[in-house]
Amino acid sequence: MPHLVELQHCHRVYDNGRIIALNDVSFSVARGDFIAITGPSGSGKSTLLDLLCGLEEPSAGDVVFDGATVRDRADWARIRAERIGFVFQSFCLIPSLTAAENIELAMLWQGISAHARRDRVAELLERLGLGARGRQHPMQLSGGERQRVAIARALANSPELIVADEPTGSLDSRSSADIIGLLEGLQRDGAITVVIVTHDRAIAERCDRRVELVDGRIVSDQRRQTV
Ligand SMILES: Nc1ncnc2c1ncn2[C@@H]1O[C@H](COP(=O)(O)OP(=O)(O)O)[C@@H](O)[C@H]1O
Ligand SMILES: [Mg+2]
Repeated sequence: MPHLVELQHCHRVYDNGRIIALNDVSFSVARGDFIAITGPSGSGKSTLLDLLCGLEEPSAGDVVFDGATVRDRADWARIRAERIGFVFQSFCLIPSLTAAENIELAMLWQGISAHARRDRVAELLERLGLGARGRQHPMQLSGGERQRVAIARALANSPELIVADEPTGSLDSRSSADIIGLLEGLQRDGAITVVIVTHDRAIAERCDRRVELVDGRIVSDQRRQTV
């Protein structure tokens, strides 16, 4: 079976080449991986994550998703809608919608009946320990709860891959541990592949594989020793 996603000799430059965000990065995500991308600020972590899901295009090199080189933006849009879930530091929930509506929104263009959408939202709220919070608006929720709503939204279409850019960057250490525990559980029980950008050491240490970037290059890629 091919890797889930693969970067092949990817470069990404900005500002007519004056800024080199990624410099000849080759990197494969295997199915079931639970990866932390670490490195100093500006080292290219977000750029790498954005290339993995086609939010950015490489300036040179290829991105291969499930065995097929993807270049077309419409192909990427479909892959993102159907196969990838996103979690952001700032949650990116819509403030005027309830928690339940934020989750349901992800399913609106997927040809799922209103009835099935509501069932799925209820299931996800329950699964993420938000059973009673569905009618609340984001402002009425704690940071940890908001991030759980965002994870529920990311899971709505049963993605194969979850990408998370600093998902705990706005949370206290207890909520952070809670969120990472949830992502760990998804990867373990649901065979979902998870790629997290983080500069939090404690979080990186809980991942099975740690990839470190410095100045746009991968300087280490290590699997955790299993005991
Ligand atoms: N849209 C952009 N335009 C110009 N420079 C950018 C853009 N996005 C990222 N960069 C630059 O690319 C480098 C890597 O950025 P980024 O991937 O966001 O790093 P990290 O997530 O590790 O902090 C930085 O020097 C950043 O300033
Ligand atoms: Mg970043």
